[in-house]
Amino acid sequence: MIRPILRYGDSPLHDPAAPVADITAEIEQLIDDMIETMYAAPGIGLAAPQVGVPLRVFVADISSGRNAADLLAFINPELIERTGTQREEEGCLSVPGFNATVTRPTRVVLKGLARDGSEQTIEATGLLARCFDHEMDHLDGRLFVDHLRGLQRDLIVRRIKKLSRDGKW
Ligand code: NI
Repeated sequence: MIRPILRYGDSPLHDPAAPVADITAEIEQLIDDMIETMYAAPGIGLAAPQVGVPLRVFVADISSGRNAADLLAFINPELIERTGTQREEEGCLSVPGFNATVTRPTRVVLKGLARDGSEQTIEATGLLARCFDHEMDHLDGRLFVDHLRGLQRDLIVRRIKKLSRDGKW
């Protein structure tokens, strides 16, 4: 089932998410729904808080469904290494219509549980490292807009507020 994606300003998007205690049938359903929602959007990553569930779960597929092996789900992920810096433009399904250049690590190592409950550790570089870092931010209540400063941030926040006032957000 495709779930509605929350937007900048909505709760619990801006709050840290809680760890998953047990991989129950509800969690499995959540992951299935998140995958369907991510592909439908379409996007390359989606975190549970974006569909209103304040838990530490995200899904990602940098091939956008073209390569089955690229589909990943992480439960209770932890960044155990984060090295280098890359600056690229990125967006977010919760901030539709906006993009900005954000500094991210070039390489990360992420450790957590796969959807079957087994431990997985994945080393990522390039786009996948950026994606993992972006999704980990979501689990801590941070959006890419929060990485911006000064005028650039103010401009996006002001435009969102205006869209909100006009009922277009
Ligand atoms: Ni995002």
